[in-house]
Amino acid sequence: MDIAKLKEEIETHGQSHLLKFWEDLTPEQQKFLYEDIKSIDLAEINRFYKAATDSIQNTELIDDSMEHIPSEQFGSVTRDGKKISMWAEEGLKRISLGKVCVLLLAGGQGTRLGVKYPKGMYDVGLPSKKTLYQLQAERILKLQRLANQKTGNNGEVPWYIMTSEHTLKPTKEFFEKHDYFGLKKENVIMFEQQMLPCLSNDGKIIMDEKWKIARAPDGNGGLYRALGKCKIIEDMERRGIKYLHVYCVDNILVKMADPAFIGFCLSKGANCGAKVVEKAFPTEPVGVVCKVRGKYQVVEYSEITLKTAEKRNEDGRLTFSAGNICNHFLTLDFVKQVVNENEVFLRHHVAKKKIPFIDENGERMTPEKPNGMKLEKFVFDVFEFSSEFAVFEVLREDEFSPLKNSNKAEKDNPTTAKHALLSLHHRYILNAGGMIQDPDGTLIPAIPSRKASEADSYPVVCEISPLLSYAGEGLEQICNQRKFTPPVLLTEKILEDYEDKGETLLCNNI
Ligand code: UD1
Repeated sequence: MDIAKLKEEIETHGQSHLLKFWEDLTPEQQKFLYEDIKSIDLAEINRFYKAATDSIQNTELIDDSMEHIPSEQFGSVTRDGKKISMWAEEGLKRISLGKVCVLLLAGGQGTRLGVKYPKGMYDVGLPSKKTLYQLQAERILKLQRLANQKTGNNGEVPWYIMTSEHTLKPTKEFFEKHDYFGLKKENVIMFEQQMLPCLSNDGKIIMDEKWKIARAPDGNGGLYRALGKCKIIEDMERRGIKYLHVYCVDNILVKMADPAFIGFCLSKGANCGAKVVEKAFPTEPVGVVCKVRGKYQVVEYSEITLKTAEKRNEDGRLTFSAGNICNHFLTLDFVKQVVNENEVFLRHHVAKKKIPFIDENGERMTPEKPNGMKLEKFVFDVFEFSSEFAVFEVLREDEFSPLKNSNKAEKDNPTTAKHALLSLHHRYILNAGGMIQDPDGTLIPAIPSRKASEADSYPVVCEISPLLSYAGEGLEQICNQRKFTPPVLLTEKILEDYEDKGETLLCNNI
């Protein structure tokens, strides 16, 4: 350890406080801290800080430069009718040829949900007790089968999972414990994003302990750096991957590698695309996908005025209504372009946070107000480098219910996520000709009561295993003209029962 040299280095970069408690440390702690500091490119961190904070100061209102996405680049599950099945067919074809992978952004710390383990391991309380990871794994398995049935090809959908220092180990152990939920182990590829030091408001690196720097993942846009560093691009090329579906971990309704979305983006010749839902109301706090000065971008709700947020078209729809749901299509060629050429130009965003720190006296403090910042890149900031961009609007109730908060919050919590999935599956059963009845045989209406006095009966408890149906398809033979009494749990076992028992098919109510 050349401590004199290190001292000189940190002084040059205005970070001399990092060694303030050096004399108090044990030899092991000194070794840890020495390596911790050496692993950081201090000049780079100072550059990131300057660029990120300068850009906040320079934020001008971008209202006047915003344009909505041109209609020829826009698709919609509700307005594009017959084209949807054409697109889905094309997507399935590419899946069956092994050209599509899914990429999960799972490096976040899930602080809002308040659990100590990765969010994907969360069970929102479905009858099956499946976690988010299990639902996602089974959707991949089913999709592979559907693509195989359609084309006879045996293409597989590799699942890349970006983790961070906090989430890699528990995620790995969880998948191993559950035998990769039936997927081939070699098709589940985990890699780690970078961690960056947390900074005080004046750019000083925050100490988490006297011997350790406070760090946080570098945002979900850290993806592009990690893809290059971890040689994931090479892995994708070796497997013949051409298209990526990138998504975030917490949406319980996520359609893994949605064939219709993939087919739609291909039909538009897009190298980059975003799935969106219509913004519910002008002040809903979601970013909108739009064009700014000719470039595609997600503009955060905090960056526009109310007047712009409330702007409507002649048909009464909000002008900027394409709400980002963190579901992206990227071609591998585009990803390579970003990693090799554009990534360095992505600036970090400043996230003001409460970061535990070591104070002047060497005491560890937990602040009650934000005292510093995490520097984060955003996955969608690469949209501006796409010349062929497409936007696909889907229905919120079918495809978007994120798990962000604990049940203490009103929205986006375990209960709302569970309800969203149960009511979607209830609709799948009704659409397939099934009926839901009370134990006394009274039919439950398609839109069940939400009266407070009947809170227990809302929503109707219906869950369908992804191994039985990916998105409501193939249920007619099981559901048509049949009555089910909640709670209903339909699993793939019902098909065996069907074969064994023919017309006397039983529903495996739980
Ligand atoms: C994200 C979107 C927002 C969208 C919303 C929909 C971004 C930057 N913002 O917001 O536009 O409306 O989802 O649900 O995409 N993650 C990492 N590494 C990190 C940080 C996060 O992999 O360093 C992952 C998380 O594990 C998660 C995803 O990125 O899967 C989204 O992160 P989150 O913090 O939940 O983003 P939101 O602010 O909710």
